[in-house]
Amino acid sequence: MDQAVVAVVLAAGKGTRMKSRRPKVLHEIAGKPLVSWSVDAVRAAGCSDVVVVVGHGADEVGAVLTRRHTGVRTAIQSEQRGTGHALLMALPALPEAGVVVVVCGDTPRITPVAIGALLQARGTAPMALWTTRLSEPRGYGRIVRDAAGAVSAIVEEKDASDAQRQLQEVNPGVYAFDIAFLRAQLPKLKNDNAAGELYLTDLVRLCTESGNEVASIDVDDGITLGINDRRQLADAEDWARAEIQGRLLLAGVTLRNRASICVEADVVCGEDVVLEAGVSLRGSTRLGRNVIVGQGAVLTDTLVGDDVVIHSYCVCDRAVVGPSAIVGPFARLRPEADVGEGAHVGNFVELKKTRLGKGSKANHLAYLGDADIGAGVNVGAGTITCNYDGIGKHKTVLRDGVFVGSNATLVAPLVVGKDAYIAAGSVVTDTVPDDAVAFGRARQVNKEGHARAVRDKNAIRVGNKTG
Ligand code: UD1
Ligand code: MG
Repeated sequence: MDQAVVAVVLAAGKGTRMKSRRPKVLHEIAGKPLVSWSVDAVRAAGCSDVVVVVGHGADEVGAVLTRRHTGVRTAIQSEQRGTGHALLMALPALPEAGVVVVVCGDTPRITPVAIGALLQARGTAPMALWTTRLSEPRGYGRIVRDAAGAVSAIVEEKDASDAQRQLQEVNPGVYAFDIAFLRAQLPKLKNDNAAGELYLTDLVRLCTESGNEVASIDVDDGITLGINDRRQLADAEDWARAEIQGRLLLAGVTLRNRASICVEADVVCGEDVVLEAGVSLRGSTRLGRNVIVGQGAVLTDTLVGDDVVIHSYCVCDRAVVGPSAIVGPFARLRPEADVGEGAHVGNFVELKKTRLGKGSKANHLAYLGDADIGAGVNVGAGTITCNYDGIGKHKTVLRDGVFVGSNATLVAPLVVGKDAYIAAGSVVTDTVPDDAVAFGRARQVNKEGHARAVRDKNAIRVGNKTG
């Protein structure tokens, strides 16, 4: 792009046809809100300055924009009086002169390449727009051309005559304008139409009436899909799934039973990753190289190092898994679980806000919450950290080399020193020094030869005799 181009994303509408309390532009495709698809597309097309017009649910939309994008500005349209009015609200945020690209926040498939082509096509015309042909044009504004084939108007469905409704060439809602033209013409829009709104699309008529050409380029109909209802949202989700999977496959990822795999838009996978059937990778999840994710595992906002195996049916949320670690099957890593390099987390083990150090193991049936566990620690089956006393959460520290016997109950706050042993079945409430063995259980008593007497007593109770 030769000159700096600013972009405006129209995202203030309610989206009545979505039948939702959530603003339309926050509905997601592959885990990414509609408005973010538009913002990312204009950014990728080279528009560094982006203004999003917000209105319905402005606070919610603004919060999502702040969380997901840096440097995006917003303009407020407090009353939704149409797309033309929305652009009018953005005008004060635009530079005095130059070019602005305008897209809708409900058109997620727009491509940077086609935006670039639009800017080229504009030449010196005050405005340029995409057009496309649809066999089912219902709902879109129709492109009207004059005898010479030039675009002369856009007629909205609601205002169209029967003959105009037959037109199959439609307005996808992507435009480029000379900002000076906008400043002169936008204030002239009128709401004398079926919707009683200021239509952005009336700028076409204003442009041609002032003796100027409206440039247009024909684009592939696929990229123009506007999302107005949940059917279209589901169609776009299918498209996004195929896109994302195509990208992963080309990047060296193996997908087993791909129809059952769900990978969201922001996920990153290294080479030689294998995703088994039914895997879901969500949010900002990142997998290193040579990671295997077993059937049915669900990873959300989780960072996974190289050479890790996540076995089937693990659920990981905002966790970190170090290189060469093995997790699952059926493990749960909750927020701030941090599994160290080469560590093992086995079946039915839950970690929350817990670091499991390098090479440490918790292989069976354990709950480890608010714990800091060093390197080379063995956590026996059934071990529980009692981190909650009904009021506050407390920390358990297991230093390097600790061995925790099976079914230990570690009552926090607690520190277990380096290389210490915890006897199986212990309830541990006090600090254990380095190298100590802690028993926290009743000592075993054996009564020689008493088994027969116990058996007889029990048999009499139920009216039986033993042999
Ligand atoms: C609009 C176009 C139509 C085009 C279609 C493409 C107009 C008048 N019509 O119709 O020609 O074929 O898009 O998808 O422009 N918005 C605001 N403020 C408002 C109204 C809308 O910010 O007051 C935003 C919405 O959030 C949405 C976008 O503008 O992102 C389009 O609005 P929508 O109501 O979906 O317009 P369409 O009826 O689809
Ligand atoms: Mg729309």
